[in-house]
Amino acid sequence: MPQHMLNRTSVEFFREASPYIHKHRDKIFVIALPGEVVEQDYFRRILQDIAIIASLGTRVVLVHGTRPQIDNRLISRGQAIRFHNSLRITDDAALLAAQEACGFVRIQIENILTQALNPPGASSNRQNVISGNFVSARPVGVLDGVDYRHTGLIRRVSHNSICRQLEQHHIVLLSPLGYSPTGEAYNLRYEQLAIETAQALQADKVLLLSPIPVQLPAELTLEEAGQFRDQHELIPQIMEALQHKVGRVHLLDASVDGSLLMELYTRDGIGCMIAADAFEVVRLATVDDIKGIMEVIRPLEDAGTLVKRSREQIELEISKFQVIERDKQIIGCVALYDTADPKIGELACLAVHPHYRAANRGERLLQNVVKVARAQGKDQLLILTTQTNEWFRERGFFEAHVDDLPANKRQLYNYKRNSKVMFKKL
Ligand SMILES: CC(C)(COP(=O)(O)OP(=O)(O)OC[C@H]1O[C@@H](n2cnc3c(N)ncnc32)[C@H](O)[C@@H]1OP(=O)(O)O)[C@@H](O)C(=O)NCCC(=O)NCCS
Repeated sequence: MPQHMLNRTSVEFFREASPYIHKHRDKIFVIALPGEVVEQDYFRRILQDIAIIASLGTRVVLVHGTRPQIDNRLISRGQAIRFHNSLRITDDAALLAAQEACGFVRIQIENILTQALNPPGASSNRQNVISGNFVSARPVGVLDGVDYRHTGLIRRVSHNSICRQLEQHHIVLLSPLGYSPTGEAYNLRYEQLAIETAQALQADKVLLLSPIPVQLPAELTLEEAGQFRDQHELIPQIMEALQHKVGRVHLLDASVDGSLLMELYTRDGIGCMIAADAFEVVRLATVDDIKGIMEVIRPLEDAGTLVKRSREQIELEISKFQVIERDKQIIGCVALYDTADPKIGELACLAVHPHYRAANRGERLLQNVVKVARAQGKDQLLILTTQTNEWFRERGFFEAHVDDLPANKRQLYNYKRNSKVMFKKL
């Protein structure tokens, strides 16, 4: 279990999760599970977490992949694995391997989920896993002179049939095979299937579990995601999904224990959320933001809520700042400073423009600072505050003493200002 999970007691976890449980109830989430994950020891735990999500009232469609399972079958039979432009050419041998792999993986998933959804002693109100011919397909055909044979594109996702199952609180399980009205079967890309299903169902979220670590910022806009195109193999597909009116895609490291639960039910999340809506974003500040930052913090400095900073100081420290930009205007900011103790980061200058308060923006800034601090290897956040200690206390900070400060902060501590010293364990 990751360190930041260990630091929470289960009681704290439930308290923190409760608003998210309400928020996600009756929402449709499409969860995509690559074939690589099916091979791992942690696969069973992921399915158990998916069962929890469904039992908390969220409507779950689970899409699985089969790429390594198809490859392994072809290799063991001495048959060729053929790709062109990263797309499999599904010849007769590959189609047979795809059908077998789908059957095998589907049965494995059904088996584990059925058990997880209906533990001994659970009510007789059974939740089930439902699979079926929900997807029709057509051939990719010949591209650049290459015949892709039984590789398919999605023709239609049966929105009504899937929704009927979701309304009964069943998990709908989709395998990457589609059927044509003429009785042909086509091998599909699971990412494409997840995206087009989300689109057809107007799902609230797509959650992609990544078989490789996700080293990306906590939030990205569609525009920003382009800069990370080469850093994760799923980014191009995510960008495609967002262009096709899927609102939010979360990319999560599948190997982190509980990654789905942490992303959905904790403030800090764990993965990277990429949103189509660039209207309002939290991002790292640049020198162009100095004017906007000053407009937000000046009234608070004048009122004594924040310590005064000169324009030059902000300019020098701009790389420490994150801002909320809304419609090209800066409406909030926060800074994360190093201290003499490399494990402790100092959160400072947290401010949200008065017109935009009480809509979780302060919270989002805090979450982003937590993510950056963790990525820098810090295990505690420090804050010095005169008027906002209650806000921080409600978000997991606890009061400490001036003597607990790292040396450089202790020496500079302003006894006249008499700020409260607070820490949060990450
Ligand atoms: C603190 C601040 C950043 C919160 O921003 P925000 O976007 O309103 O934050 P959130 O929406 O996540 O949280 C709002 C909640 O915090 C509460 N809150 C706001 N300021 C608070 C304070 N000083 N003490 C306790 N609770 C406070 C609000 O009443 C609201 O509660 P509600 O949802 O029950 O109504 C913002 O109020 C601000 O800019 N304050 C002035 C600057 C400041 O004090 N910064 C801290 C520097 S140490």
